[in-house]
Amino acid sequence: MEKEHIVLPEHIAIIMDGNGRWAKKRGLERTEGHKVGAEVFRKICQYGSDIGIKYMTFYAFSTENWKRSAFEVGTIMNLFRKYLEEMEEREGENEEAGYNIHFIGSREGMPEDIAQLMNVVEARSSDKDKIHINIAVNYGGRDEIVHAAKRLAKRIEKGELSPEDITEEAISDNLYTAGQPDPDLVIRPSGENRLSNFLIWQSAYAEFYSSDVLWPDFTPEDLDKAIEEYSKRNRRFGGI
Ligand code: FPP
Repeated sequence: MEKEHIVLPEHIAIIMDGNGRWAKKRGLERTEGHKVGAEVFRKICQYGSDIGIKYMTFYAFSTENWKRSAFEVGTIMNLFRKYLEEMEEREGENEEAGYNIHFIGSREGMPEDIAQLMNVVEARSSDKDKIHINIAVNYGGRDEIVHAAKRLAKRIEKGELSPEDITEEAISDNLYTAGQPDPDLVIRPSGENRLSNFLIWQSAYAEFYSSDVLWPDFTPEDLDKAIEEYSKRNRRFGGI
């Protein structure tokens, strides 16, 4: 990437969309698209880290995705399991890469072994800071806000907080992404122009970039294009 004049976003969020269509176009099962999509996820994490992105969030499985066939859900779960086992086994490499891995979303309803592996991988990578990688699994933006509201309500019930303490900052601090900067750039491949319940609170001022490329075909050059476009936009945060 031509580095001159490029403003790197600190936080890039990506909706990994189009796996099913990619597979269908090739006469394959939808699940084959997810398998290739998982490899592309690895490549884009590495590339993001190489070019100096500090935070990347990937939408991998929404609270609505449970409605898909048992076979498709099972395949996606197996891809998470494989990735987590790999992260656990290759701890040394991971350490070197400096990945701080964090899962956002509800652990409730997740297969027990996956939920445990998530805890292990998160704990082991928590002191790394080359790049923070959030993987949204069993995630829904509205669900996240409800979860934050309940946490705050419980503190009010205990007398630790008063209603006046419920500020935007208090809500941000009780989201799964607490302590992290909001996304600057949200990328959605596969030509769709919706947020689909992804980081709806955090993306209030994010630049949205839609790419026609299907996620399994997404390359580092496509990420460069999104960053170049972001770099050209003049962000005013509601001011003039
Ligand atoms: C959306 O495309 C994609 C998903 C619901 C699953 C995404 C999961 C992965 C890429 C695997 C992630 C693995 C790791 C290790 C993080 P779609 O199926 O809705 O595509 P379509 O709109 O073309 O049908």
